[in-house]
Parts: sequence; C-alpha cells; structure tokens
Amino acid sequence: MKKVGIITSGGDCQGMNTVIFELYKLATAKGIELVGFIRGYEGILKKQIYPLTLPELEAVKSKGGTILKSSRCQEMYTPEGQLQVFDNLKSLNIEGLIIIGGDGSAKGAKALYDRFNFPAVVIPATIDNDIEGVSLSLGYLSAIDRAVTQLSWIEDTATSHDRVFIVEVMGRHSGNLAKGVAQEINPLATVLPDTEVTEELLANIKNNFKQNHSHIILITELQEKKVQELKSKLSQEYDVRVNILGHGQRGGPPTVKERKLAKNFAKKALNNLLKSKLGMVTN
Ligand code: F6P
Repeated sequence: MKKVGIITSGGDCQGMNTVIFELYKLATAKGIELVGFIRGYEGILKKQIYPLTLPELEAVKSKGGTILKSSRCQEMYTPEGQLQVFDNLKSLNIEGLIIIGGDGSAKGAKALYDRFNFPAVVIPATIDNDIEGVSLSLGYLSAIDRAVTQLSWIEDTATSHDRVFIVEVMGRHSGNLAKGVAQEINPLATVLPDTEVTEELLANIKNNFKQNHSHIILITELQEKKVQELKSKLSQEYDVRVNILGHGQRGGPPTVKERKLAKNFAKKALNNLLKSKLGMVTN
C-alpha cells in the first residue's frame, strides 16, 4: 500500500491524537502516505483532507480531542453513503482506511470490506468501553481518571455539608465506565442500567453513609426517573444534590497508560491492515 486514509469517528476520546501521531510515524517509515480526513466519514464524503505534518502531530500527541475532528455520520449507515465513501477513496487512490472509533464507526468499516472488498481496520476508541471482543478501548482509562478527579472535588464539598450527591456518569447504555469509577471511589451505591431502586438499595446506602464511604451515589446516564426517585426518597433523611459530570469525562490529556495503549493500537492497526486482517483491532 502506498496511500492509507485515516479518520476519527463517533464520540471523541483521549488518546486519539496519540494514535494519529504514532500511525503517521509508522506509515512514513514504511513509505506509506497517511491521508487524514476531517470529521470522520463526513470528510471522506466531502473529500475534505487535513494536511498532516509531523511538527503539528508532535505538538498535539499528548492533548485530548482529535486534530482530525469527529462526527457521527448518518450517511455512512445508508448504502448510497457507503458507495460514495468507497468511490471517493478510490478516486483519491487510497488503498486502505484506518478508523479510530466505536461500534457505529465499525459498521461503516464492515460495509467497506463486505460490500466493496475495501481494506479497513478499526481502532476501538470510546470512553464507554462497550465494544464486543475488546477488553480495553481507547479513552476508558483516561475517562475514569477525569471522573475520579471531579468526584474528589465533589467529595470535598459533600463532606463539608454531610450531603449525599447523586452523580451521573457517562457510558450511554453501558455501565462499564461507572463500574470502573466505582472501583476507585468507594461510592454509597452504583446504579447501573439494570439496578432497581429497592428498599434494600436504600438501606444499603444509609448503612454505607454511616461507614467510611464517599458521599457519592454513582448513576449511569439516561436514568432520570431513578435519579428523581432516589432524590425524593433520600431527601427525607439527607440533604441531597444531583450533579452531572458530562463531557469533561471525554476531555483532557490521555494518561500515561492510555498513551501506551494508543501506541500499541497504532502498531497493530497498521500491521493488520497490511496483512488484510480487517475489522476491529483487539487488545
Ligand atoms: O459514546 C461516548 C459518549 O460520551 C457516551 O458516554 C455518551 O452517552 C455520548 O457519547 C454522548 O454523546 P454526545 O457527545 O453526542 O453528546
């Protein structure tokens, strides 16, 4: 291969810039031109190329976000959109594609190789860590780190007022991020998508409040009814506040472990692509 495309697709996460930097170095050493497109599949559809250079990649390799920008491209879910992406890649003489993204992005990659026999590999990247067959996705460790840091600040004020904080963490329909955070902070409770608000749960929370636990109940997002139920029941006894951690969990620099993971993924992704081992790159 002489020319390989690269995109970041779906929700951004820490470590994406590190992967781009590593891939640029690896590809260049093999005489392969790495062509970056802006905003994921959308950039391929619009033929919007981002001129990648080593000095700029050096400067952003340890920064959060993605220099290539990202989007969730609905057109890539349609047969017409997929054909257009394939045609555009062909017309630019691009022989393979590396996608840094999650499950949705992987569906686009699958369409490229299943329908058009076009080589595409996916580096699993999502703070949700919910990709089948992948034990650790890019972004997960840094997102835990960001959540734990913010929660430690919340804990300071919670302790000062003896309050209970119900704090929503990201993760969409998966509880993996919440579970990872829970391991670090000893919460009063962790309310996952399949957790019911029962008398037993409330009794545990009250008991834990008396013990040496944090003052925080973790809850995964998209569970507004449970938040309200918990708040109203616990307010009979405690001063309760509700906080949403939000997108800060996806930002900031990748941790050192994340950078190592990014480096490994970059190496595996290029090797897999060159050996026609297509699809998701696993750990
Ligand atoms: O998939 C990553 C994620 O951060 C989820 O945890 C969250 O539900 C979603 O993306 C938020 O999406 P958006 O950035 O479009 O608001």
